[in-house]
Amino acid sequence: MTTLRSLLNETSLPKHEARMVLAHLLEIHLQLPKSALLTHDGMEISDAFLEEWQLLEQRRLDGEPIAYLIGKRGFHAIELMVGPGVLIPRPETELLVDLGLDELQLIIYKQNTLNESEHSLTMLDLGTGSGAIALAIATSQSKVRVVATDASQAALEIAQQNAVRLKLSDRVSFCLGNWYAALQNISSAPRHFDLILSNPPYIEAEDSHLSQGDLRFEPPSALTDFGSGLTCLTAIIDGALAHLKPGGLLAVEHGFDQSPAVLEQLALAGFQDIRPHRDLAGHWRAASGRKPI
Ligand SMILES: C[S@@+](CC[C@H](N)C(=O)[O-])C[C@H]1O[C@@H](n2cnc3c(N)ncnc32)[C@H](O)[C@@H]1O
Repeated sequence: MTTLRSLLNETSLPKHEARMVLAHLLEIHLQLPKSALLTHDGMEISDAFLEEWQLLEQRRLDGEPIAYLIGKRGFHAIELMVGPGVLIPRPETELLVDLGLDELQLIIYKQNTLNESEHSLTMLDLGTGSGAIALAIATSQSKVRVVATDASQAALEIAQQNAVRLKLSDRVSFCLGNWYAALQNISSAPRHFDLILSNPPYIEAEDSHLSQGDLRFEPPSALTDFGSGLTCLTAIIDGALAHLKPGGLLAVEHGFDQSPAVLEQLALAGFQDIRPHRDLAGHWRAASGRKPI
């Protein structure tokens, strides 16, 4: 008799990965929660369940990312649907979300306690992918209106579905196009933003990691600029002052060794209060700068 327990005991997958795949199958086949892995571990499983398990187990053994197999990934305070058309959101990108939330909180504080003039808060997420940054910010800060862009139609479709699932469609708008040029495709977009966040493709074209591990399965245009790694970052930094309110903040994610080049680019573009930021692993992973008032 094949049971959940015997599948877990016999699989060649790491146990935590096998549990994630089995929890997904329990949910879609039997509408059972993840805890059934403990409470129903002696349950005999059906042929259909077994067949699908064997298929997903093999795809994982062939290297496909777990998030694509189960179609979702947790990010910050939300769960996002993901598929092969979008980058799988990474934990290090939560740093950018926290920087953004702190900035919005600071603006609200100044409005409430220093009697600064009140205006509706606006944020732009360039290269939104699954909608990760835009939707995580909108979930945790109900006062902000977000515009999210991407050059990939496939990514925007997934991002829009995520917005609907998270009931954020009224505060998050999406538009297709090349960085800031996408804003021309949405008539209701604010002209200037309090905050611009972006995690653009920043892996150098020649980087051997692109042909290894999970990266082999993700869209190349979400990972690399097909150049030095700095092309997209430079375009975003150079265009930001024209789209920020005075005093507004730009924060970008970059590669672990790109901090000096990105900080220099922010200075060249005319930003003030330029700062590097470390991720939880201790890498300089993001940089921010403020538009002069
Ligand atoms: C590293 S992924 C980040 C996705 C998402 N923001 C996240 O953090 O999970 C970069 C995203 O930028 C998009 N992108 C690439 N080139 C672009 C361009 N020229 N204009 C707008 N978006 C672009 C890609 O399609 C991809 O979704």
